[in-house]
Amino acid sequence: YRIAVFASGSGSNFQALLDSAQSGRLGAQIALLVSDKPQAKAVERARAAGVPVFVFAPKDYESREAYEREILGELQQAKIDLIVLAGYMRLITDVLVEPYAGRMINIHPSLLPSFPGKDAAGQAVEHGVRLSGATVHFVDGGMDTGPIIAQRAVEVTADDTAIELQLRIQEQERLLYPEVVSWFAAGRVKLEGRRVLLF
Ligand code: GRF
Repeated sequence: YRIAVFASGSGSNFQALLDSAQSGRLGAQIALLVSDKPQAKAVERARAAGVPVFVFAPKDYESREAYEREILGELQQAKIDLIVLAGYMRLITDVLVEPYAGRMINIHPSLLPSFPGKDAAGQAVEHGVRLSGATVHFVDGGMDTGPIIAQRAVEVTADDTAIELQLRIQEQERLLYPEVVSWFAAGRVKLEGRRVLLF
């Protein structure tokens, strides 16, 4: 079972997936890292781990669709079964959503549908919620809107800052994401319309 991880940033989720693959718990091979940022720490982590990297500069393309067509070619060549977005800071169009329907997932640092988009932890602190967390969901082309696969809750304290909360949520993400990917590798997740089936 072959996965591609898309990351724009530090790649702490990517690292958790790498570690889990190395220990055999993931049940999947990380066959490609895709990044829109050549300087991203995630790219460095991939190179250190010997994972093939496809890096592109969005400004070299006339549209989102244009670079996604190129990514699609890379994914097909690498025979990727599942796309795993891990801090990939771009919306995805039908060029990738359609061929990977039911085979593309994202992780987001809130209990969706609360607080989609940027700075989810900041939004949670701002609203004074007592509970937030992390959500893994299918990608449908909207911003953090696809069918939900799994969630983990994290308590928010009265004196939490956005950064403190974000760090505690990310600890949970690093546990949750490899687990969910292992379910895919074992054939335990299916998408039927907008219904998620777990076996
Ligand atoms: C994570 O908090 C994830 O939920 C969000 O972006 C962040 C990526 O962090 N989508 P990292 O690059 O994996 O460290």
